[in-house]
Amino acid sequence: MSDKLNDIEHTFHISRGEIKKFMRDFHSEMERGLRGLSSSLAMLPTYAGRPKGTERGNFLAIDLGGTNLRIAAARLKGRRKMGSYVSDKFVLEKKHITNTGKALFDFIASCTRDFMARHKINLKEKHNIGFTFSFPVRKKRISEGILVGWTKGFSARGVKGKNVVRLLNRSLEKYIPRTSAIAITNDTVSTLVAKSYEDPCSDVGVILGTGTNACYYEKISNIEKLQTSGISSGEMIVNIEWGNFNGFKRTRFDRALDRASENPGRQFLEKMVSGLYIGNLAGLILADFWNCIKPKDFKAEYISEIESDTQKNLPGVNRVLRRFGVQDLGLSERKMVKKICAMVSVRAARLAAAAIASVVTKMDPALAKKHTIAIDGSVYEKHPGFSKLVKLTLKEIFGERAANITLKLTKDASCKGAAIVAATLSREER
Ligand code: GLC
Repeated sequence: MSDKLNDIEHTFHISRGEIKKFMRDFHSEMERGLRGLSSSLAMLPTYAGRPKGTERGNFLAIDLGGTNLRIAAARLKGRRKMGSYVSDKFVLEKKHITNTGKALFDFIASCTRDFMARHKINLKEKHNIGFTFSFPVRKKRISEGILVGWTKGFSARGVKGKNVVRLLNRSLEKYIPRTSAIAITNDTVSTLVAKSYEDPCSDVGVILGTGTNACYYEKISNIEKLQTSGISSGEMIVNIEWGNFNGFKRTRFDRALDRASENPGRQFLEKMVSGLYIGNLAGLILADFWNCIKPKDFKAEYISEIESDTQKNLPGVNRVLRRFGVQDLGLSERKMVKKICAMVSVRAARLAAAAIASVVTKMDPALAKKHTIAIDGSVYEKHPGFSKLVKLTLKEIFGERAANITLKLTKDASCKGAAIVAATLSREER
C-alpha cells in the first residue's frame, strides 16, 4: 500500500526545475496569445484600464460565475473611496446553470428585481449595472462580451458565441425595463480594478476559488492582436484565462477527472488548482485505495476538514471517511488519507505560485519593482495553509526578491469592481 502511495506521490511532486520550465512555457504561451496565435492562454483584451480613483456615482452590480449569484448596490464617492454598499447572495442551483440561457438570464433578472425591491431602490428610475461575468469572453468594447465557452460546470444552452450583455438586458427588459447592464468584466478584472481604485500600485488580479484565473495591466503596444483596432498607447487589462494553461505534466488522476468533466480537454490548470476540482481529485486517489468512495462527491471542503485535523489520532479523518462508508481506519491509514489530501493541495498551491510568478516576471523580468497582487477566492482564503504555501513557493522561486511581491486578500471585490468599471464610462457613453 505504501509503495503504491509513494509512486503516486512522486507523480504529484513538482520540483523547482519543473516550476522554472512552467514559467518559461507560460511566458511563451502569453506571448503567443498576445500575438493572436494559437495558445492555451487566450490573453483576452478587456477594454478596461486603470481606474483614476475619481470615478463616482450609484451603480448596481451583478456577479455571476462562482457558487452563488451576487447582486449589489454601490455608491462610489470618488477620491478612491467607496461609500455605502449592500449586497445579497442568491443560491444558484444546477438547474439554473445547465438549462437554457434564457432561463438563466431570466432568473438573474428576477433576482435583480427582488434585490431592488428589498433595498427600496426605485424600480421606475433608470439604473446602470456593471456585470461581472466570470467566463472567457471576446469583446471589442467594454459593453460587449461574446462567450467563448463555459467553464466551471456551467452549460446553459444557446449562450456560447452570443453577446451575454444583450442576453442579460433582454431578460432585464421584461422585469425592470429602465435598468440595464452597460459594462461587463471578469472577476479577476473586478478584483484588480477594485484594489487599484484604493491602491494605485496594484497590478495583478488573481482568483483562486471555484475556478482560477488572473489578469494584469499590459502595455497596449504589447497586445499585438489589437493593432488593427486603432488603439495604440496606454495600458489595458488583459484577462489571461490561465485556468486553461496546459504546459506541464498530468497524472492518471488528472486525466480521469478531465474525461469525466463537462469540458474535457480544457482548463487543465484549473482542474489541478481550483475548488471545484481539487476535492474530486483527492477523491479519485482515495478511491484507488477504498473503492466505496465516490470521487465526484468528495468536495474541497473535505480536504480542508482533513488537513485542519491536527489532533494526534486524526479523528477528523475518520469523521469524513465515515460519510463515504469507510469505517474506522487505523492510525497509519488515517495518516495516508491526510497525506493524499496534502499532495493535492501542495501541488495546487505550488502551481498557483508558479502562475503568479510567471505573470509578475512577464511585466518585470528582474522583479526590480514592488507589485501588489489583489487576490480572492475560497481556496486562497479558506483552505488551511494554502496562502502560506503560495508565499513560501514564491520565496523558493525568487529568494529575497520575493519581498517585492505582496499578496493582498481583496474580498467581495467582484461587485465593487464592476461598479467602478461601469463608472469609468463617460455620461455620454452611458
Ligand atoms: C474560470 C473562468 C474565468 C474566471 C475563473 C475564476 O477559469 O473561465 O473567466 O476568471 O474561472 O472565477
